[in-house]
Amino acid sequence: MISRVSSLLNKPLLRRFTRDALLALDPEQAHKATLLALKSGMITSSSAKDPIELNTSIAGVLLSNPVGMAAGFDKNAEVFQALDGLGFGFCEVGTITPNPQNGNAKPRLFRLMPAKAVINRMGFNNQGHNATYERLKIKRPFGAAPVGINIGANKDSEDFVGDYVSGVRKFAKIASYLTINISSPNTPGLRGLQSPQMLERLLGETLDERARQTGNTPVFLKIAPNLTLEAMDDIAATIAKTDLNGLIVSNTTITREGVEGLRHASEEGGLSGQPIFETSTIKLAQMRQRVGPDMAIIGVGGVHSAASALAKFEAGANAIQLYTALVFEGLELLSEIKKGLVAAIKENNCTSIKQLVGTKTNDWAQRNLSS
Ligand SMILES: Cc1cc2nc3c(=O)[nH]c(=O)nc-3n(C[C@H](O)[C@H](O)[C@H](O)COP(=O)(O)O)c2cc1C
Repeated sequence: MISRVSSLLNKPLLRRFTRDALLALDPEQAHKATLLALKSGMITSSSAKDPIELNTSIAGVLLSNPVGMAAGFDKNAEVFQALDGLGFGFCEVGTITPNPQNGNAKPRLFRLMPAKAVINRMGFNNQGHNATYERLKIKRPFGAAPVGINIGANKDSEDFVGDYVSGVRKFAKIASYLTINISSPNTPGLRGLQSPQMLERLLGETLDERARQTGNTPVFLKIAPNLTLEAMDDIAATIAKTDLNGLIVSNTTITREGVEGLRHASEEGGLSGQPIFETSTIKLAQMRQRVGPDMAIIGVGGVHSAASALAKFEAGANAIQLYTALVFEGLELLSEIKKGLVAAIKENNCTSIKQLVGTKTNDWAQRNLSS
């Protein structure tokens, strides 16, 4: 029965119907229904082997394609294998905090339909280290898509840095990479960790713990798109003194540029989706200029088409992630992006996505931010 339903769901018309039905539901219910469908195997895809042009790596982690699921979709590591089956090149689970927590009161997730955007103030709702560890510790088959583990701090923690250190201790041995997420706008005080002194201490202690655990699990730092040029200078100077492996640029924004006046625009929380594409891509290019060509950067924020995906690479990303656009465009967007990237590689007379990384960093970095 499930395989009949799943083969039906692979038909484009039915997929569109499913996506429209999901959009008619309350956003959090729709997310739950999608996770359920993925867990039960109802949504599958005959994902063919990725074309060689898309094979790449980030911080030494091999990817069959450079398009990943961003953090926040699979907070509790329930569907990372299903996402691999759908053709994502990697999946980032979490944010996971040491203790389980419920997150903020509902409603806390809002769609801004005309802008193809979302505002969320979920507040790191998750099942905590232990429950998630049990699902993640399984040995993944050879060739399975890498799984990044995004770690955070409990809202009521008296020691934010200690929470990250305990995340590294718990997950370093089983993660393809770890992400230190200090850029969620929904945990009061968290983004203060981006300040130079706090960041130095945070990176010092977490990277020491990584050295004690494995020595080589790549560690990424996920930053906000609202940083000033000076704040970016400080972050670049601080990470230059460490052996951090990479950056993820960026998380959601606290600004409301591009959505002013829309229903739900004044809800508190982080804005994601199409309206943050420009800002997050400019910040990505500006960070690429500051950290040089060798540090791995994952570009995320507003990717909604093959062209916007390509722009992230040109601005300096080695790999990209997306989340919000999948809500509005459905899962077909993934194969559309992969096809578009392969076409762009060929049009540029290149043989690999790696050759398109950073080809327009300076153009992007110079663009004016109206925010
Ligand atoms: C509902 C929702 C929950 C999110 N939760 C997290 C999270 O727990 N940790 C995190 O690092 N980012 C989280 N994000 C941010 C995304 O990973 C991503 O950085 C951001 O949404 C920009 O990408 P997008 O425009 O493609 O959605 C969340 C985003 C959304 C929409």
